[in-house]
Amino acid sequence: MRDAEAHEYVVRFSFWACFQHAAGILLFGVLLLTGMPQKWPYVEASRWIIEHLGGIFAVRWLHRVAGIVFSILFVTHLVVAIAGVATRRNQPALLLNRKDFRDAVDNIRYYVGSAEAPPRFGRYDYRQKFEYWGLIFGALIMALSGFILYFPILVSRVLPAELIPAAKVMHSNEALLAFLIILVWHMFGAHLSPESFPMDTSIFTGKIRKEKLRREHPLEYEDLFGQQ
Ligand code: HEM
Repeated sequence: MRDAEAHEYVVRFSFWACFQHAAGILLFGVLLLTGMPQKWPYVEASRWIIEHLGGIFAVRWLHRVAGIVFSILFVTHLVVAIAGVATRRNQPALLLNRKDFRDAVDNIRYYVGSAEAPPRFGRYDYRQKFEYWGLIFGALIMALSGFILYFPILVSRVLPAELIPAAKVMHSNEALLAFLIILVWHMFGAHLSPESFPMDTSIFTGKIRKEKLRREHPLEYEDLFGQQ
């Protein structure tokens, strides 16, 4: 039974979820590639990138276009997610609750050897939920500060002009923070951790091995298949 599960797959993500992830990788990649050389223009690699992308005007144009598409994707994500929960088509499975904070403490206790077994997770574990909310608030900061930098004169007509240098600091530092979080936290969770190495493919294929679902999301597994 358990051996058979190693080759059996279960649908985990919709096409829409897979599409958003793929579009997110592409857009975030373009925004990093065109944003970072503006943050550090005197670095040799920045000059190389700017030159090969067609000069600073092309780089700024590309960044703004990618920024607009990124913002549209972000707003669409929020609308679809909220509508899905409001019409009861989707469960609010990514909302944080008290169990997540308890799980975080219990998991650390397990890692340091003071608990016998790790906590049992549902559809998403606390690390996935923390990362999701980090991404939501990060995207909000990037989009808001990005549009303030895009339309500084318009913004300073209605709001204090001090907002413009503040938005630049926010945009610039949040970009670096988001990049480092993806590099360290997300790459470890999705690629380098022993459970996922060399790669967790579920968000690309939409499917997860039944045995992996039972191991990593036992409460969801029991909801779907009962206790086996
Ligand atoms: C989430 C992904 C994003 C990343 C990683 C990113 C990164 C960056 C970085 C590093 C800079 C240079 C800041 C500096 O000079 O210190 C920058 C500038 C800028 N970004 Fe973004 N950004 C993102 C999203 C956006 C969005 C959604 C918009 C909205 C359209 C936007 C619009 C701008 C604008 C207008 C500038 C000023 C540079 C210029 O005048 O062309 N960015 N970005």
